[in-house]
Amino acid sequence: EKGGYDYFMLKEIAEQPKAVADTLLGRVDAAGSLTLDEVRISTSELREMDKVVIVACGTAFHAGLIAKYAIEHWTRIPCEVELASEFRYRDPILDPRTLVIAISQSGETMDTLMALRHAREQGSKVLAICNTNGSTIPRESDAVLYTHAGPEVAVASTKAFLTQLVACYLVALYLAQVRGTKWADEIQAVVRELSRSSQDVDRVLDTMEPVRELARSLAGKRTVLFLGRHVGYPVALEGALKLKELAYMHAEGFAAGELKHGPIALIEEDLPVVVVVPSPRGRSVLHDKIVSNIQEIRARGARTIVIAEEGDEAVAPYADHLIRIPATPTLLQPLVATVPLQVFACELATARGNEVDQPRNLAKSVTVE
Ligand code: M6R
Repeated sequence: EKGGYDYFMLKEIAEQPKAVADTLLGRVDAAGSLTLDEVRISTSELREMDKVVIVACGTAFHAGLIAKYAIEHWTRIPCEVELASEFRYRDPILDPRTLVIAISQSGETMDTLMALRHAREQGSKVLAICNTNGSTIPRESDAVLYTHAGPEVAVASTKAFLTQLVACYLVALYLAQVRGTKWADEIQAVVRELSRSSQDVDRVLDTMEPVRELARSLAGKRTVLFLGRHVGYPVALEGALKLKELAYMHAEGFAAGELKHGPIALIEEDLPVVVVVPSPRGRSVLHDKIVSNIQEIRARGARTIVIAEEGDEAVAPYADHLIRIPATPTLLQPLVATVPLQVFACELATARGNEVDQPRNLAKSVTVE
């Protein structure tokens, strides 16, 4: 059932191009309009929404952080992202004009379920993004968009995360469509870019041997740090979470701009620091800033592991290890940038002799609060 792979996680990493393509399949009609699976929220209600709140845990929370960039950019509706476990305990401001999006692979995560129940009690509508048909979270929501990742067995989430991102992009575009923002005309173009991402993920997977080699060489390290900016920041958080779960190593993700506000004090000789570099095209300010962050940490002895677009030469002189990813529109970059981090964590776990599919102390779905 592992399809010739040693671990479910390796199989699920390899399935990502197909999972991404499957999640897109049949969502856009000939006229370029998007459809959701089950929507018990009318388009007039969606047009009235003045706030989006995303609730989720763990990896799904990271997908939510990335979704915020897409939702605010494409719809201009303010969007907040909150850990489901924190949400209801702080008496959040919710009303019928708040759209709550609950993201969950399993559809059974108790923290997320309790958050969505709280939101519905306050009169808000809930849209679930879920991978498990008929599970509790979509059953209790007002609308559902299923991710078609197929069953995910390994405790560490991989293909579910990529398809959650695709689903979030689709929801953002759907909201743009019903509200008629200027981006509504771009739906087909973005969906084309998303389909291309599936091939790009495939290409990334073909070039992972140096990443595996690097991971093995770091098996004796105690700490790895991850840095990113913009959508690369949640990618950094996800890279750190994967490493904690799988390799049982101390790992932390930071927004690169925060370095000088504290974390740079952690940098010491030969400390591995993974940096997710934004595209040099378009938002070149972000790119230039991260290049100087890389220079700063390298000057203090860090071993820089740089994930950068093909053709980004400016960053090459400061990378001790350079991992190339295909050029992608900024908002979609997490689809390709996350993949090397999954492979990195999986290989490090194997090198440290850990159980990849069933890390200690963890369960696939967390059905207690
Ligand atoms: O099933 P869910 O998406 O609701 O699960 C949420 C988290 O428990 C989950 O993403 C967890 O963080 C994974 N083990 C991460 O790899």
